[in-house]
Amino acid sequence: MNRREFLQSTAVAAASGYVLLHMRAAHADLPKRPYLTWQNDPCTTMTVTFQTATAPKGVVVHYDTEPRGGEAGRHSFHAAGATTRVGGLADGRSVNTAELAGLRPGTRHYFVFEDETGRASSEYCFDTIPDDGRPVTFVIGGDMGAGPRMRKLTDLAARQDPLFCVVGGDIHYENGDIREFQAVDDWLNMMAESLVGKGGRIVPMVLAIGNHEVSKDVAESEPGERRAPFYYGFYPQGGKSHFSRRFGPNLAIVCLDSEHIVPVEAQTEWLKNTLQSYADVPFVCPVYHVPMYPAHREFAGNVSMKERSLWQPLFEKHHVRVCFENHDHLFKRTKPLLNSEENPDGIVYLGDGCFGRDPREVNEGNRWYLEKASQTAHFWTVTAEKGGITCVATDEDGNEIDRWSKSL
Ligand SMILES: [Fe+2]
Repeated sequence: MNRREFLQSTAVAAASGYVLLHMRAAHADLPKRPYLTWQNDPCTTMTVTFQTATAPKGVVVHYDTEPRGGEAGRHSFHAAGATTRVGGLADGRSVNTAELAGLRPGTRHYFVFEDETGRASSEYCFDTIPDDGRPVTFVIGGDMGAGPRMRKLTDLAARQDPLFCVVGGDIHYENGDIREFQAVDDWLNMMAESLVGKGGRIVPMVLAIGNHEVSKDVAESEPGERRAPFYYGFYPQGGKSHFSRRFGPNLAIVCLDSEHIVPVEAQTEWLKNTLQSYADVPFVCPVYHVPMYPAHREFAGNVSMKERSLWQPLFEKHHVRVCFENHDHLFKRTKPLLNSEENPDGIVYLGDGCFGRDPREVNEGNRWYLEKASQTAHFWTVTAEKGGITCVATDEDGNEIDRWSKSL
């Protein structure tokens, strides 16, 4: 290559680099794959969200219980949805959502959506939750953020072939900052590449809120959608930061907001009614970000104290067996606790949110309530069935570091 050819090739490379950079600025790295949440019954519904740079003509998802390839016309069922935009998001992308309803429980479903040009996307699949009492297995952890440690843990979590994944807050560490969309896109893309079920099945997500979903620069008087724009804008879950879902006859998940948008006391009446409504469910599992029984932060923390005073008596009255706590970035299992004392019939608190973040030291202090704790990144795999629940903690090297079960 002579100097002239070299200069020409450099100019072409620079120009294509400019185009690439320009495109990235215009469209960012949109999530490459649709993702799944729930707004209603996980046995019979699924909410599909896919993002596009510009609004599609219509939001349409075609689905069936048999694979139909990329031919939208061969799918038996069709769901229309809607496009929304997240206020202030510079690339103006479209967040397109459709809820599929009337689905058969415990069944694989296949779907395509119509892209911006009206063409069918690749075909994807998911499983609805069984309603016949079969064991239900899910993975749970908190405090993630797309990074190498998250990737190791989500790769391992995928091997459990979980029916769904619960995140107990501090999902992508964008801090509710609308300019930090790349952190959100990176997390969604890492989940899409890593936490995949057998046969390429998309694993639906249940997302509780944490402090890193919320902007400190937006006034508390503003609506949640402004304070936590990605949490509300990207993940249709019914529009609230506290909600519950029932996963068949034996399991319910109750996501609570440990005072990031909604005060602890403002959820108490709702929590009481929710727990009453699940009187026939053997395992009702609360999930919230700030721990009642922390292993790193102080026991006398304001939110921890309020939760113990207002939520814990309701958990105990309604026979909760296990709670999932986060925020402190380490591994812990408490003793069974009743009325803040050790009691074999008490509740076990598992945590503390280390599904990607660097683990912190156990802060020794007076931790009378801890059975086990260590500076270990991990996630929990939980299997619930009629007669019992089993929770297994796996570290980032794939070792089982804890196993706790409760039989009824
Ligand atoms: Fe946190």
